[in-house]
Amino acid sequence: MKSNKLASIALLLWVATIAVFAWFFIHGNTEKGSDGRTAIVLQAGERDLVLSEMRGLLSATQGILEGANEGDMQRIIKAASAAGMKGAADVNPALMAKLPMEFKSLGMDVHRDMDAIAKAAATGTPAPEILKMTSNILNECVACHSAWQLKSAN
Ligand code: HEC
Repeated sequence: MKSNKLASIALLLWVATIAVFAWFFIHGNTEKGSDGRTAIVLQAGERDLVLSEMRGLLSATQGILEGANEGDMQRIIKAASAAGMKGAADVNPALMAKLPMEFKSLGMDVHRDMDAIAKAAATGTPAPEILKMTSNILNECVACHSAWQLKSAN
């Protein structure tokens, strides 16, 4: 009887831990932002990491447009693959837990679409089609920027 009770308590604690972790994984570490957006609160180093990834996305976009303008498919492949899923894979779990689900999902969409552009360029897709794909990615950049802000906790 006594060990049964202990087992129930252990089970309850286990469920509670998972629930708290799941809650964070979905909602992230957020608060009301300073300008009407939602702020994601990160450590200074984590914020720097996300922002440097952002600058990578901007230069990938620049590379794709330049490649499309000059008809240089290799340039497009190189720029788009640099911002693909491969680069997103090594984000640490603590940072992942602080990012809200919707944010992670939009971010993954962008990386996946960058890979799709690299593949399109490699298989001879015409430049206007690649520009259309790039324009769709830019909608995702705009959607995310209008919803979230990054705040440093220290
Ligand atoms: C999943 C959400 C999300 C997506 C998608 C996204 N961004 Fe961002 N980006 C942010 C947030 C949040 C910030 C910080 C904004 C703030 O704090 O005001 C940011 C900041 C930036 C910055 C500023 C970097 C710096 O050093 O200050 C650039 C440049 C940028 N993003 C480019 C892009 C481009 C280009 C794309 C699309 C190819 C993109 N981002 C897609 C969320 C996103």
